[in-house]
Amino acid sequence: TTNRTFTMLKPDAVEKGHIGAILDKISASGFKIVALKLTQMTTADAKEFYAVHSERPFYGELVEYMTRGPIVAAVLEKDNAVEDFRTLIGSTNPADAAEGTIRKLYAASIGENAVHGSDSDENAAIESAFHFAGREMF
Ligand code: CMP
Repeated sequence: TTNRTFTMLKPDAVEKGHIGAILDKISASGFKIVALKLTQMTTADAKEFYAVHSERPFYGELVEYMTRGPIVAAVLEKDNAVEDFRTLIGSTNPADAAEGTIRKLYAASIGENAVHGSDSDENAAIESAFHFAGREMF
């Protein structure tokens, strides 16, 4: 899965009707969509997905947020996918995000920040397998 990354358009982005605009920006930035679905995380799913943050003060809020409605999960392919996608989405806190980034355009706050991007090739593979069966990734 080198040259691939995993993303979620989070519940706030879906609620606000931004699925099309964000996927368009992702495609226009050179990423090929190789897996895609609308899905909703259970509480158990979100606790597991964000287990690395379990000791953080915002963990409960994060699990509530990520389970409150549907998300779009996707696997993206491009040279240098993990790093380039993190550049495209911008800083975790939209107040710090560069002009033109997805978070600058669509995120409301550090908590509700519209989009997820894997932070390493290893996590991209783990997160992709968390959401997609092999036959759903092309
Ligand atoms: P992300 O970096 O994709 O994964 C961890 C998420 O935790 C992050 O996006 C935010 O949604 C959330 N998060 C990070 N920092 C904070 C914070 N200080 N307060 C609330 N939520 C946060």
